[in-house]
Amino acid sequence: MAPAVLGPILAIESSCDETAAAVLDRNGAVLADVVHTQVEAHAPYGGVVPEIASREHLARVASVVRRALADAQLTPRQLRAVAATYGPGLIGALLVGLQAAKGMARALGVPLVGVHHIEGHLMAAAADPAAPEPPFIGLVASGGHTALYRFEGVGRATLIGQTRDDAAGEAFDKTAKLLGLGYPGGAVIDRLAEQGDPTRFPMPFALRDHTTEDFSFSGLKTAVRVLVERERAAGRALEGAALFDLCASVRAAIVDALLTKALRVARAKQLYRLVIGGGVAANSLLRSEAMRRGADNDVEVYLPPRRLCTDNAVMIASAARAWLAQGRASPLSLMANADARVEDAVGAVSTQPVTGPAGP
Ligand code: KG4
Ligand code: ZN
Repeated sequence: MAPAVLGPILAIESSCDETAAAVLDRNGAVLADVVHTQVEAHAPYGGVVPEIASREHLARVASVVRRALADAQLTPRQLRAVAATYGPGLIGALLVGLQAAKGMARALGVPLVGVHHIEGHLMAAAADPAAPEPPFIGLVASGGHTALYRFEGVGRATLIGQTRDDAAGEAFDKTAKLLGLGYPGGAVIDRLAEQGDPTRFPMPFALRDHTTEDFSFSGLKTAVRVLVERERAAGRALEGAALFDLCASVRAAIVDALLTKALRVARAKQLYRLVIGGGVAANSLLRSEAMRRGADNDVEVYLPPRRLCTDNAVMIASAARAWLAQGRASPLSLMANADARVEDAVGAVSTQPVTGPAGP
């Protein structure tokens, strides 16, 4: 566990379609974890609409922060740092959380810490004393990202491989859309797949060979589309057992691709610890297969609790604590960056933290 940092820290996450705020105490224990999801606002459009996301964040951020402080039984003056995701994500969405955090940091006279969203996912485990300490192989699989890292701590994430097209969560979401299952699709497919036969519809595994650590999921999406069109043309409705079997086949293919590469990388790098984060790490099959295949490969696998896999602010607070423990914080001039690269995360924390709150 990282050393105690100053005092309680508040973090805000607003990079996509969740407005979240969390408070950790000086030892990293979670005092508050509030997540307001915008799924209902975006569902009619079948995906996240950036402009709606920005407006929803704007409407919610103050009440989400107030609720987190109330849950933590703290007043703003008791905070010793304020953190927010500065990127990557939707620019309008990022701006809302980052500006709110800047305003609070400035008013309270406490350090601001800008956190890279992927480092947040890689740090999601940190609040759990049972979680492995870095270094570890980190697999982040979400709606926007699918990548493997060697993670040695904040500011030290080295990219090993990433998707060349769709993210794993996107593959789930696009499949769900094709099948008319609504948005977001990962959790729905996961549920329907439980009743299905994963061997009924063979799915492609792109880039299976040993020459690359990259992923590719666009072929899977095409395979599902061709299959759906074929079944419909033949007058066979994709419902009941056929729907369950297709969901199970797609889920198994995505999980197999993710775990095969992640475990191979762990062995090749002789770093026998794997931490999996991002929304897709909430998947039931991924969770059970990761433990089983990890044990078979002598790789210790850790999955954060489901709630900390999907976007949340606890992970942002945990990453921010790690930066503060290194004596780093962000300037109030920090800009939101929609395309922030994980290799540049250290550039967001270039100043010495303020050591104490300003006067009353
Ligand atoms: O990490 P996250 O909340 O947001 C991003 O940073 O993208 O991930 C959201 C993604 C969505 O694509 C969603 O369909 C997927 O995670 N997801 C799941 C499950 N729960 C959420 N995918 C598969 N199985 C699940 N149970
Ligand atoms: Zn995320």
